[in-house]
Amino acid sequence: MAESMKGLHRSCRCAEVTTDMTGRELTLMGWVQKARDKGGIVFVDLRDRTGIMQLIFENGSVSQEDFEKAGKLRSEFVIAVTGVVEKRGGAVNPNLATGEIELRVHSLRILSEADVPPFPVEENSKTKDEIRLKHRYLDLRRPDLQRNLMLRSRIAMLTREFFAKEGFLEIETPMLGKSTPEGARDYLVPSRVHPGCFYGLPQSPQLYKQLLMCSGYDRYIQIARCFRDEDLRADRQPEFTQIDMELSFVDVDDVIDVNERYLAFLFKEVLGVEVSLPIQRITWQEAMDRFGSDKPDMRFGMELCDVSEVVKNCGFGVFTGALENGGSVRGINVKGQGAMPRKKIDKLVEFAKGYGAKGLAYIAIGEDGTVKSSFAKFMTEEEMQALISAMQGENGDLLLFAADKKKLVYDVLGALRLEMAKQLDLLDKDEYRFVWVTEFPLLEWSEEENRYTAMHHPFTMLMEEDIDLLDTDPGKVRAKAYDIVLNGNEIGGGSVRIHQDDIQERMFEALGFTKEAAHEQFGFLLDAFRYGVPPHAGLAYGLDRLVMLMAKVDSIRDVIAFPKVKDASCLMTKSPSRVDDAQLAELCLSIKEPEKPVEE
Ligand code: AMO
Ligand code: AMP
Repeated sequence: MAESMKGLHRSCRCAEVTTDMTGRELTLMGWVQKARDKGGIVFVDLRDRTGIMQLIFENGSVSQEDFEKAGKLRSEFVIAVTGVVEKRGGAVNPNLATGEIELRVHSLRILSEADVPPFPVEENSKTKDEIRLKHRYLDLRRPDLQRNLMLRSRIAMLTREFFAKEGFLEIETPMLGKSTPEGARDYLVPSRVHPGCFYGLPQSPQLYKQLLMCSGYDRYIQIARCFRDEDLRADRQPEFTQIDMELSFVDVDDVIDVNERYLAFLFKEVLGVEVSLPIQRITWQEAMDRFGSDKPDMRFGMELCDVSEVVKNCGFGVFTGALENGGSVRGINVKGQGAMPRKKIDKLVEFAKGYGAKGLAYIAIGEDGTVKSSFAKFMTEEEMQALISAMQGENGDLLLFAADKKKLVYDVLGALRLEMAKQLDLLDKDEYRFVWVTEFPLLEWSEEENRYTAMHHPFTMLMEEDIDLLDTDPGKVRAKAYDIVLNGNEIGGGSVRIHQDDIQERMFEALGFTKEAAHEQFGFLLDAFRYGVPPHAGLAYGLDRLVMLMAKVDSIRDVIAFPKVKDASCLMTKSPSRVDDAQLAELCLSIKEPEKPVEE
């Protein structure tokens, strides 16, 4: 029943038809959005990725046979029509680009019929995620997803254009490689030829791009697929895409400079947004102290305030106890929320506990200056006033305090600050606030492994002035590492790399690697460095996150054609899946069934 394309050529896409084309004969092809049979006249909305064009089939202007066929059209049939562009006879539709015109059809071919789809193909569909993802090929027909993927394509093209002009070379690096130390678990691929051996899928092209610098390619870029076996969240997928780059003969400012110009170019071209340069820079320490986060959302204030000094001798044991244990007491001032009902405050306490807090102390100041507080009874009037004034508390304010180890206090108040901004609608969706966060700690202590681990990766250079701390106080060493943060999202990160072997060796020592272990894992890089290595630095953006923010959607799933769900499976292809015994035998693998069967 399905007809062929023989002799037909599509003239243009649906929404590319304009009013000035009135009177022209065109051939259009696409999907039936909806068909309405008015007896004697059939109206069809024809859809493709550009939009909708209204078709009119009138008995007389189309053959009897085609008119009958038009009467059978249903949603999602794929058709080809030839006809003449006319001004609409009926009402103009101001919501459509093609709202003033229609195509009076004189011939129709049904290229493919369609079953009734499991959900309607329309914008803002209320269909459950599971059903949408199972039929992703239908979901991807929805105009909002199509816009997102077209935006993504445009961003990738503009990125290549910009960096090509800046003298970057696009070079591909292997997918089947050796595992890279970015801190997540690797996805492994068994080798048939080398039984018992595995490739690691790249967590990033980090080692290869550094080797390319050793080989003289001086400015490299790649839109690279990366794989990380880690817990998924709204902004994380097991496979994702980086805009990955590396530059030779540069320091921090050079990397920042070209990337600021890139961001300004991209946001101007795509969104018409002016990014004012230079982008603000703050150190990691300042970001933590002011916002409780290394990816601060700078669209609003509500900054953290350290009140440790003010409360150190007060009568409230929760505060003094935390300080005696080497912790800290900090607060945020939620302006104008002093009348928040007790129930709502209790919810905030629960929210804080979700981040590991033991509690959340508060002072609610009424419009008339009366003070309600969870700890007033432990404090003198003077101590209370000193605390309120340190927090710049005014009538009508709500002051929230966390007392604990410093890291926990940052986490709790950082999260609470964002939560309050969401509840109070302080986040302007049209505002794009960038910030560079610099001078990250080089190392962080891992309780699990009982050793220092690299916060970025083991090849990140330390700040020259901190080199001697590596032996005396490694936790205090700052790195030449930087993240680019947009509206509270880490969209990219990078660093200057170590290119001196003596420093690299001290770094491995600080990380608890023996010389042998370091050579076993990264010998090829260390060898390459022995034959002449330029100082180099780089950065990688999460392309998915960047597109997500530019498309103003809440999940990176909405900007990835075929994403995975939370347990890293694909609902459409049902991957991962078991393989047959012959495949396993060829790889010399056998499956040891887990004690508790994994749910399929
Ligand atoms: P990093 O690990 O910071 O650096 O990664 C760079 C950027 O990639 C994005 N990203 C992710 N996006 C989606 N899903 C994920 N699971 C995911 N993980 C990371 C983030 C992040 O900022 N080789 C270094 C870069 C360098 O030093 O040049 C690296 O990979 O937006
Ligand atoms: P308690 O004496 O445990 O009833 O605590 C008195 C108040 O202090 C309550 O509002 C608790 O939520 C709060 N609180 C308890 N522990 C902490 C903490 N570590 N930081 C901030 N507030 C806390």
